[in-house]
Amino acid sequence: MREESLALSGASIRELGAAEAEARLTELADILLDAVAHGASVNFMAGLTREEGRAFWRRQVADIAAGEKRLFVGERDGRLVATVLLIYAPQPNAPHRAEIGKMLVLSSERRQGLGRRLLAAAEKAAAAAGRTLLLLDTESGSAGDKLYRSCGWIEYGRVPDHAYRTDGRLAETTMFYKRLADRPSPEIRVMAAQAGIQETAES
Ligand SMILES: CC(C)(COP(=O)(O)OP(=O)(O)OC[C@H]1O[C@@H](n2cnc3c(N)ncnc32)[C@H](O)[C@@H]1OP(=O)(O)O)[C@@H](O)C(=O)NCCC(=O)NCCS
Repeated sequence: MREESLALSGASIRELGAAEAEARLTELADILLDAVAHGASVNFMAGLTREEGRAFWRRQVADIAAGEKRLFVGERDGRLVATVLLIYAPQPNAPHRAEIGKMLVLSSERRQGLGRRLLAAAEKAAAAAGRTLLLLDTESGSAGDKLYRSCGWIEYGRVPDHAYRTDGRLAETTMFYKRLADRPSPEIRVMAAQAGIQETAES
């Protein structure tokens, strides 16, 4: 368990390692269930059960243990209240890229800046790991859409009817990216070179 930063508003933000995430599967599942119950379009339909939520997070724990994903959480009074996943692109040609997923703040904790702080923590960790190009998508016009725009993310496209909402309606998805640096970091470029990537001057 690594302490990343302490909160100004009572909630703390930190990274949760695989062992603690495994021990707190029910709390993580309950954050996902709360989002779905409040109509968030986060890959699941209404009626998601706690066991299904736990199973989802158990799969994330395996990926965290494998070093493929990282989990950052908001915690208030010892209770997990928010999550975000940083997902490293697995492709050999993208050592500088990552995705953001499961950006969830408990409905009772929203609009207090927790989402923004959690996203900033994930972005900071991504930059430190050399993952300087981030991608994500979210339902067009949703709270997430507004959060990402307010945090400097750039829209690069929209797909109509991309996914079903929890109420059974098809909804549009907006894709966003954010560059954390103009170029991949020197460390990532060394890694890329070692992996056989020959960067050209124009890249
Ligand atoms: C999206 C979500 C994570 C935002 O979390 P949050 O803690 O409420 O966000 P913050 O308080 O940090 O908001 C930061 C800024 O984002 C924007 N924003 C966030 N939620 C908003 C909303 N419902 N309506 C309008 N703007 C919103 C605002 O600009 C806000 O700044 P302000 O409060 O000073 O106006 C939260 O609403 C949530 O968990 N939603 C359900 C899950 C979801 O849809 N996640 C995104 C899927 S990719």
